[in-house]
Amino acid sequence: MESKEREGGLPPKETNHLISETGRDLTIYGELMDAALKAKAASIMPYFGEVSDKSIIIDVGSGTGQLAEYISRELHSSNVYAVDFSHDMLALAAANLSKINLVHDDATKLDKIPNESADIIYHGTVGHEIQTFRGISGLDDSLHSSFRSLKPGGREIWRDFVKPPEGDVYLEILTNDGFDTVDKATQNGFLNYSLLSTKALFDCFHCQFKGGNAFNYEDVTQDGHNLIKLPAKYAQEFILRKDYTANWRQEIEEEYTYWTQDEAKSAFEKSGFTNIQIIDDDNEYIRNHRLTGKVALYTYDGSGLKPIEFSTHMVIVGQKEPSATTKTEEREIEPINFTSLLDSIKVKNESIKIDQQEFPKGELLGRGQHKEVYLVDDGENNKVIKIVRKDMTTFYSAFSSLQQSVERQHILDNFGIKYMKIYDYDKNGPPYRFLVQEKIPKGSLCASELIVNGELKEENIAQMAQIVNAFENSKQWQIDTNPFNWYRVNKNGKTEMVYIGGTVYRYNENWSFDKVGLLQWVDPRYVETSQNQSAKIPNQAEFQDFARRWQKLDTKYANWWKKYLNPNVQPK
Ligand SMILES: Nc1ncnc2c1ncn2[C@@H]1O[C@H](COP(=O)(O)OP(=O)(O)OP(=O)(O)O)[C@@H](O)[C@H]1O
Ligand SMILES: [Mg+2]
Repeated sequence: MESKEREGGLPPKETNHLISETGRDLTIYGELMDAALKAKAASIMPYFGEVSDKSIIIDVGSGTGQLAEYISRELHSSNVYAVDFSHDMLALAAANLSKINLVHDDATKLDKIPNESADIIYHGTVGHEIQTFRGISGLDDSLHSSFRSLKPGGREIWRDFVKPPEGDVYLEILTNDGFDTVDKATQNGFLNYSLLSTKALFDCFHCQFKGGNAFNYEDVTQDGHNLIKLPAKYAQEFILRKDYTANWRQEIEEEYTYWTQDEAKSAFEKSGFTNIQIIDDDNEYIRNHRLTGKVALYTYDGSGLKPIEFSTHMVIVGQKEPSATTKTEEREIEPINFTSLLDSIKVKNESIKIDQQEFPKGELLGRGQHKEVYLVDDGENNKVIKIVRKDMTTFYSAFSSLQQSVERQHILDNFGIKYMKIYDYDKNGPPYRFLVQEKIPKGSLCASELIVNGELKEENIAQMAQIVNAFENSKQWQIDTNPFNWYRVNKNGKTEMVYIGGTVYRYNENWSFDKVGLLQWVDPRYVETSQNQSAKIPNQAEFQDFARRWQKLDTKYANWWKKYLNPNVQPK
């Protein structure tokens, strides 16, 4: 999780998880208020010390890269490096940002950052992600790598949530701000966490967090207050996440707190840092909007309850002694270079050449928003090659879509989705520059054509709805339903809908077909007016209008969708 706002920041709309998949969440980042970003920078920049535009600054776990970009602008520097492990994130950052250098690297290794090359390395609210995925030793590895990569005299700045010291606390939360049971908050089999009271949400937290029953708690009444007695760490974990109901299912998988202030200090010491400072960095926005008046924490000393507060965040600063040296290295930081990746794809008359690999090129079969698709003219003519479209500014998302196609086939398999097989792909990726895929069989028709010509059959929509239902019920993944990416294929006299793309998104409860999907299947205008073989994406107003009319909508296709789509998945 990432806190989205802070002191001085206007309260942004409750947005989604900041770390989500490419292609659909750009708007969320747009909504990130400048003020919130400024505040985040204000938490860490004062500890940079003497820096100039020449200073090498590394943002570890940069995600969307917004903070790094902001800092590079503040410092008029082109020496800010944003390091992330997710190519999707890097592609997203590349598409939106201009000043920073992007580096693909693992936060626990920092292999691409040579010894003694950086003046400042910061970890901005990323430690808990490292901890979630790599365990507590991942944190040590990350600090060690950071120490190694810093110049003598350089600084590490780490900002994240704070784990309160050991011991029990008494937590007071609202019981009347929503439904008191999961049943009441469930409609059409779909539990809407935002309808639960804080107390009922706490029960969910207890049942789910870290696999469930990770801690014991007691309901007690003290000095006229109804309280929950529990270890301070879990009180903190709960109050920090209780407002993320829209993304509850993902947030519950993450552990936000891992170091107390003392533990943070020892971890820094263990990695060789000195002059360690620990600064309380309470998030004022969270404090004022979500905690004060809504939750209270107390200790009890025998005579009475005493209010207590734990800071939400802390900042840890450590220095690599000016006299400390690591073996210096004669190499440069290695940023990822999308332009040279593109340049290495050579489309010639007869062939496509990528590094040493050459593919005999047949006719151009399609040009989507991201990719170009050519027949592989190998005599068999049953394969296509998909490459990044160089002429589009969206080429970053093409890298993402190729990556998803290559790496997420197992998800399609798990859901029993019929798709075009992938035979080969860029072995130097990710980022993947190409993939070779089974060609759509002759005579197959694209769903978009079928929609426009009114030729979809009930069984086609039934199959699509079944796929969507399965994905939605999994609450883990969602599928691209863009009608240009589905073909009706004839197989032994039967027809089935086959997916030609590979994009599979992480589940997003707020998706509800507003970006790709339903509207395009029931209103031909969304595919008729398309360019680049991808359907128009309805804007929010169009989708809301559609949702309003949905129940009364009485067209053939709409009625079939209504018949087969789970009620909880239908627009509301
Ligand atoms: N396996 C295939 N066989 C034949 N033609 C294909 C195949 N895959 C794609 N095409 C054609 O190429 C077009 C573009 O391909 P694709 O949909 O993969 O790229 P895109 O639209 O740029 O990316 P995305 O759909 O992931 O946003 C398709 O709409 C289709 O007409
Ligand atoms: Mg497409």
